[in-house]
Amino acid sequence: AAPSPVENGTSSAITVEEYEDLASLAKDDEASVSITVVGASGDLAKKKIFPALFALYYEGCLPKHFSIFGYARSKMTDAELRHMVSKTLTCRIDKRENCSEKMEEFLKRCFYHSGQYDSEEDFRELGKKIELHQGPRVSNHLFYLSIPPNIFLDVVKCASKSASSASGWTRVIVEKPFGRDSESSAALTRGLKEFLAEDQIFRIDHYLGKELVENLSVLRFSNLVFEPLWSRQYIRNVQLIFSEDFGTEGRGGYFDSYGIIRDIMQNHLLQILALFAMETPISLEAEDIRNEEVKVLRSMKPLRLEDVVIGQYKSHTKGGITYPGYTEDKTVPKGSLTPTFAAAALFINNARWDGVPFLMKAGKALHTKQAEIRVQFRHVPGNLYKGSFGTDLDRATNELVIRVQPDEGIYLKINNKIPGLGMRLDRSNLNLHYAARYPKEIPDAYERLLLDAIEGERRLFIRSDELDAAWELFTPLLKELEQKRMAPELYPYGSRGPVGAHYLAAKYNVRWG
Ligand code: NDP
Ligand code: BG6
Repeated sequence: AAPSPVENGTSSAITVEEYEDLASLAKDDEASVSITVVGASGDLAKKKIFPALFALYYEGCLPKHFSIFGYARSKMTDAELRHMVSKTLTCRIDKRENCSEKMEEFLKRCFYHSGQYDSEEDFRELGKKIELHQGPRVSNHLFYLSIPPNIFLDVVKCASKSASSASGWTRVIVEKPFGRDSESSAALTRGLKEFLAEDQIFRIDHYLGKELVENLSVLRFSNLVFEPLWSRQYIRNVQLIFSEDFGTEGRGGYFDSYGIIRDIMQNHLLQILALFAMETPISLEAEDIRNEEVKVLRSMKPLRLEDVVIGQYKSHTKGGITYPGYTEDKTVPKGSLTPTFAAAALFINNARWDGVPFLMKAGKALHTKQAEIRVQFRHVPGNLYKGSFGTDLDRATNELVIRVQPDEGIYLKINNKIPGLGMRLDRSNLNLHYAARYPKEIPDAYERLLLDAIEGERRLFIRSDELDAAWELFTPLLKELEQKRMAPELYPYGSRGPVGAHYLAAKYNVRWG
């Protein structure tokens, strides 16, 4: 029988209803999970993390007993957090369906706690609140550090202590940047490991959660037609291209101390390269895949200054609108030399890839927004049909394009005969267009990664030795660029970037796709 609500004679006694709730929770042996978004008042939390959590809830992917906590210094009530979050949630999964009921249910499970990032006391208070909501069952804790990197360690110290009494697991998702170079990255790793074991640290690179990046291994290892061609014998060059058609507006403070090489190349593009070039893992287990990725990174030569071109966007007027240059942003220091564009040639020193240029190009404020992988194959030996294409020999080579975003797709450029009586050749696409083939919207990368972190799946997260290897490739170049105060080549906002990128490609007999 339920005890009387005033059994212990204090005002904190629980009511019969609350007791029954807790009693039913105690009978239920499923573990609960709390997800704390540290930096909940910020841009990433609003734009990506809360919407991804809602999408997971909508899809029924979150554990039955979950609660979500926002934590930041800003003062906010639960209701204010819910209001803020509600503005960014969408029923994107099935547009015909009205999911407002689901949204209400989700928002009821979101709470807020205001505190300092270095206050153990504030995190203890958060811990108490979490405990109250979790009920008497095994309690797991996930912290998402959606904050600037200079406060990662303060938070990890306080959060790991506040959760140390947890009966279940404690995991921490760390957002990039993981340092600025080899030394600062190693210091961050050492700092994190004072409070957490490696298997509690989930270093996120959200490009690994993108559908087409995940599909890379499937494409290679489950189709007989690709893997035999995946080497220097048949592949002439590989291009990894990232471009955005907007500048760093509003993020200049962060961006100026990192630049495009650290923001995009050293992580997103390099991770794609490793997945693209690795040997077949012995299984799909996280450690087996990450072992192969590390091997590729460690087989690469550090970048050389002569294989890199840097650029920075300048103001440009088009259609009566003036788009400001990078240094005109108030948050960017005057005269900044930080690159907003870079192109680089990288090489892998192993039997499979010796001599094949891997060209990377990444830029802000370019003419288009896209991310893709282009694989250009060699010429057909003794090309029987050479004359049938006219003079443009390039047209005779095959090219495989993996369009990561937008409008996801994979297409293979092949040569075929133009129907008719003559023998004229044309190039056509064998096209897997995702929107046509799979009408359901593709989940956002953050959904997949959050779900993996909750489930303890580490395959798509960066291991510390992988991070060290990545920094080793880029640190000498970054230091040289900064020591020599190399001036970036200016390019107009909305253009295709500096012409230097074309010279770099031409040096390796490559034409950008
Ligand atoms: P914000 O600048 O919006 O910061 C998040 C929150 O952290 C703020 O709301 C603020 O909360 C607190 N904060 C900001 N600056 C400081 C400071 N100097 N000292 C202490 N607290 C501070 O960052 P984002 O949300 O844009 O990014 C969060 C993390 O995710 C960063 O590491 C970023 O590099 C990374 N990231 C961001 C992406 C994006 O698209 N925004 C994409 C990929 C990675 P309060 O004042 O309330 O405490
Ligand atoms: C982030 C970078 O990691 O990726 C940003 O810090 C960039 O500068 C963003 O805009 C791009 O991500 P997505 O998923 O929009 O291509």
